[in-house]
Amino acid sequence: MIKVMTIFGTRPEAIKMAPVVKELLKRPDIDTKVCLTAQHREMLDQVVDLFHLPVDYDLDIMKSGQSLYDITARVLRGLEDVLKKEKPDYVLVHGDTTTTFTAALAAFYQQIKIGHVEAGLRTGNLLSPFPEEANRQLTGVLSNVNFAPTETARENLLRESKDDKNIYVVGNTVIDALLATVKKDYHFEDAEIEAIEEHKRVILVTTHRRENLGAPMHHVYRALRRLVEAVPDTEVVFPVHRNPLVREAVSEELEGVPGIHLVEPMEYEPFTNLMARSAIVLTDSGGIQEEAPSLGKPVLVLRDTTERPEAVEAGTVKLVGTDEEKIFHAAYELLTDEKAYKAMAEAVNPYGDGHSAERIADALLYIEGLSDKKPTKFIAK
Ligand code: UD1
Ligand code: UDP
Repeated sequence: MIKVMTIFGTRPEAIKMAPVVKELLKRPDIDTKVCLTAQHREMLDQVVDLFHLPVDYDLDIMKSGQSLYDITARVLRGLEDVLKKEKPDYVLVHGDTTTTFTAALAAFYQQIKIGHVEAGLRTGNLLSPFPEEANRQLTGVLSNVNFAPTETARENLLRESKDDKNIYVVGNTVIDALLATVKKDYHFEDAEIEAIEEHKRVILVTTHRRENLGAPMHHVYRALRRLVEAVPDTEVVFPVHRNPLVREAVSEELEGVPGIHLVEPMEYEPFTNLMARSAIVLTDSGGIQEEAPSLGKPVLVLRDTTERPEAVEAGTVKLVGTDEEKIFHAAYELLTDEKAYKAMAEAVNPYGDGHSAERIADALLYIEGLSDKKPTKFIAK
């Protein structure tokens, strides 16, 4: 029997760890514990409730307008006692948030083995995305087992001299979560979204990156305003992140603009189903860059770099940055030139096949000698 504690704190970590926790709970040889840092509160709870995740510990650290120092200090302090009490064999962390790195550090201080889920994503630029690129590299240094979503991620880790035998290419667990939630003929409970007429094309938008706060976000929002005016059969749906700085810029630029629906962060199930009903997606999110290609939705990424090159190579994702003109023209072309649209709207699945969580559980049992079943490798088709 091994004890595995999964630690996460933000919305995307919860979405991507939910399938892992569910899978670990099915394995009789794994004693599964869940610890929330609650770096996010409401946006995290939405996911924990949706997937009915059993929570053993909740550090409840979120403060409005928190700094990186606040998050780091509060998570580190909070985890000391939890880890001392539970003494897990493994701590599993996900991705690249400040919770991820700090939880890995807290585990390392007690010499607890660390499994990094979604390991090996890299832009190579510590300032983009900030601070995520540093978080994921630092977590990589501390990790004992690396669950790389793709072959590219594995190669990134090998380049950093990680031992190949500690790398498992498992696919991205976000596809496990996505496949469990997108449904045919989905009806939206939100009356505003359900009321969008069928012939309207939906432009789905999200923004939250720290390096885009301030002027870049204003540029993005001005491009959106021009877009709904220039292409009259479109409507923007924009679930606005709870970061007060994002909200301030959104309300200055987009409040009351016809054709733009500003809504609260959506629950995962209606959100993914809205993505499936959208024409295009404009986002600076990481997870959405992985989900939308699987649904055949063109994505314009509001960033200058991406650690997810696979869908760019497949042609469904384009980096457009945060320049107003560039965003407007790229989106305008997609919405008015059928050929350009078709060239991007190809469904591709470079990130997963829905079996990533199984591979992670298999790998942990295999490494610990509790099973002879070697995890299969995820191969993108
Ligand atoms: C964090 C992660 C980022 C990830 C993003 C996902 C870091 C440094 N950043 O960024 O990698 O992509 O989450 O969304 O780890 N807030 C609420 N309620 C919530 C969530 C946030 O009120 O449920 C507000 C709070 O005022 C909080 C602020 O948003 O202080 C910012 O949250 P924070 O976790 O610090 O940064 P994010 O930009 O969300
Ligand atoms: N998401 C959601 N509701 C929303 C917006 C996004 O459930 O209103 C989901 C989305 O499907 C993806 C994840 O949140 O799985 C991405 O989170 P976010 O963009 O906040 O973080 P990132 O992926 O950039 O770290």
